[in-house]
Amino acid sequence: MTDAVQTQSSPGEFKQRVFSGIQPSGGLTLGNYLGAIKRFVDMQENGIETLYCVVDMHAITVWQDPAALRRQTRELAAGYLAAGLDPARSILFNQSQVSQHAELGWIFNCVARMGWMNRMTQWKDKAGKNAEKASLGLFAYPSLMAADILVYHATHVPVGEDQKQHVELTRDIAAKFNHDYGVDFFPLSEPVIEGAATRVMSLRDGSKKMSKSDPSDASRINMTDDADTIAQKIRKAKTDPEALPGETEGLKDRPEARNLVNIYAALAEQSVDQVLAQVGGQQFSQFKPLLSDLAVAKLAPISGEMARLMQDPAEIDRILGQGAERARAIAAPILARTYEIVGMIR
Ligand code: AMP
Ligand code: TRP
Repeated sequence: MTDAVQTQSSPGEFKQRVFSGIQPSGGLTLGNYLGAIKRFVDMQENGIETLYCVVDMHAITVWQDPAALRRQTRELAAGYLAAGLDPARSILFNQSQVSQHAELGWIFNCVARMGWMNRMTQWKDKAGKNAEKASLGLFAYPSLMAADILVYHATHVPVGEDQKQHVELTRDIAAKFNHDYGVDFFPLSEPVIEGAATRVMSLRDGSKKMSKSDPSDASRINMTDDADTIAQKIRKAKTDPEALPGETEGLKDRPEARNLVNIYAALAEQSVDQVLAQVGGQQFSQFKPLLSDLAVAKLAPISGEMARLMQDPAEIDRILGQGAERARAIAAPILARTYEIVGMIR
């Protein structure tokens, strides 16, 4: 395969490259693990170049206490490593160490249209009625996300369902840039949204996404919860009175039941049908203990390893620094060529 940094003539010719990121804006949840990190690890096995970022510049679109931001950045990096990301095989770094993201982000602010940004559902949810008080960065955030992806000419972006619209916007920005400047320079990156747990729901309300910002801690499983807490949260998880069905159609209109089965399937690396073939007919009183045992078995080693890594913050910083250096080596020539296309004297 040719090097993506060299001249390409069509998006089809881009070298395959994976990029994704998570904000260090709080603890990690089971939703982040199943919807994102676990799949980052799986993609690392395919022999494709993978870059995974702690997007600290995205985090400050809402207020972050500086000391907390530093801790959360290291904690997220520790989560990546503990879950199995290997800094020898993947490029792991934090966004602010690679200034090319912000530079390309500015250029994309001048490509993206206000109307596109206004349609972003995450903006509408997060800013809500208080849009007047939201930061300008929160509004512009999807164009920085486009820069994160495109400054590496990344072709594949593993994310949870909630980020699909932002990856589509990234394609719109790439297409408009290519069109306006008459080039085929940026690829049209594909969102990769796969598996049983692309949208893990709240344990208290099957219509809401499991989120680190939900005020109720009982609504989510945190990567750092101990075995008793995990078991208790699953025991108390909202369900309905019916037994589990024998096949997937039986989960229709049963959001809470479907969520727990999806979580089980993703943790067990099975399909929903395979899971239901084993547990169909069970009451939740039987199924919930199976689910907690599985969750504890999968998560406890990761949270233990995260705690161990957090004892050596200097080592985490070293890994992020090395990753940033490798990331810059890819980003710098792509940004330089972008400036040239736009007409900036260098
Ligand atoms: P965030 O926590 O919003 O920064 O999200 C980081 C990554 O985790 C993104 O790829 C999200 O799509 C994914 N993610 C977050 N919450 C969930 C969830 N409840 N279910 C599935 N994926 C999620
Ligand atoms: N916006 C993503 C989120 O909130 C995080 C993110 C920032 C990201 N830049 C990215 C994800 C680039 C994928 C690719 O979850």
